[in-house]
Amino acid sequence: MDTFSTFIFLVCIHLCLVYFLCNYWGKVFVASMEIVVEGQNQPKIALETIKLYEMEDDRISLLPNCLLLEILSRLQCTKDVIRTGILSTRWKHLWNSVPTLTFTYIDFNHPLSDFVSFVDKTLTQCHELKLKKFGVYTCYDIEFESQFNRWIRYAISCNVEELILKLWYPGSKAEFQLDQSLYISSCFIDLTLAGSVFNPMGMISWKKLRSLYISDVILNEDLIENILSGSPLLENLVLDDCYGFSRLDITSKSVKNLMLVGYMDPDDDYANNIMRINAPDILSLTIKGCLLMWKILLLNMSSLVEANFDYEKFGYYETTSEEAEEDMLKGFIVNCRNVKELKIGFFCSKVLARLEAKGFVFPSNMNFQPYCCVPSPSLYSDSDSLLDSD
Ligand SMILES: *[C@@H]1O[C@H](CO)[C@@H](O)[C@H](O)[C@H]1NC(C)=O
Repeated sequence: MDTFSTFIFLVCIHLCLVYFLCNYWGKVFVASMEIVVEGQNQPKIALETIKLYEMEDDRISLLPNCLLLEILSRLQCTKDVIRTGILSTRWKHLWNSVPTLTFTYIDFNHPLSDFVSFVDKTLTQCHELKLKKFGVYTCYDIEFESQFNRWIRYAISCNVEELILKLWYPGSKAEFQLDQSLYISSCFIDLTLAGSVFNPMGMISWKKLRSLYISDVILNEDLIENILSGSPLLENLVLDDCYGFSRLDITSKSVKNLMLVGYMDPDDDYANNIMRINAPDILSLTIKGCLLMWKILLLNMSSLVEANFDYEKFGYYETTSEEAEEDMLKGFIVNCRNVKELKIGFFCSKVLARLEAKGFVFPSNMNFQPYCCVPSPSLYSDSDSLLDSD
């Protein structure tokens, strides 16, 4: 319902804009035509058009502030929002009331310190009391830890609903220590944390959180339990390239969608661990990315109705035998016996083909969508035989 009303709202905004623009250009056009018909001398046309232009030029600015702010908040980055300040005096101070702030460090010709100063300066000029979204996408240097944490505290002080913190590290492990206030802030609805050190000192309390995306973070079973028990409304959980746990117990009844993207423990050279996933209440499960581990075992998945297996099981090491790969996929399929929608990616399709060649029969109740993105004469043929076939 929420998405739907947002959609309707956006359609309305677009219609308004189209209406205003058409109306505006239409009038300029008609006026110009009239002048062409009436007047004989060219300069008059130009003059009249300019006058008309001046008269009409604030048509968009006639929109109420809340609508302009809504439009500005759709811009990808705060720098662009600030740039709209040159449009007119009305726009000059509009940007600092926009409820979304997004900062991206992409101008690598300038040092990171310039980016940090820009964010600092921008935040001192903002007037938000309530932030919908605060996003930072940048590489990280420990030199700026206190600034980064100040930004987080700023966002929290504005009761931010969606916080995105995506940090990357040139050639080293995540080292940004998240501010402790982040773990007990009840304002978040949507939280994206990539490339941080996750170390809450106490109990996590994310009372309103519905979606959590964690990436490149070391977790363990206790942390996962702390997250789940502290987020009673959590529906969507994505663990992207996180590691450090061998059991994923989704004890929370609210979590409906679980996505596991890749697993690789850089400290485990043998990648011979087994991960157990127990999630009796989730409705949808996606496992994708590169799994550097021996196998995943699904335990109780009794509510599952949708599953997507699009992982690969190789990497630097020849970790798993073909039998182990087949065992794992067979286990998945058998465990998904109530699933209505099953999607299978390229790697898993090949494993499934081997299973079927050995007599495995696919459960008939499943609506099974095999991998079909590559135009291939045969769905299950592997790439070697494809090359050889002509
Ligand atoms: C799986 O979990 C559900 C819900 O918690 C429970 O009712 C059911 O008995 C469990 N099944 C097995 C086989 O443990």
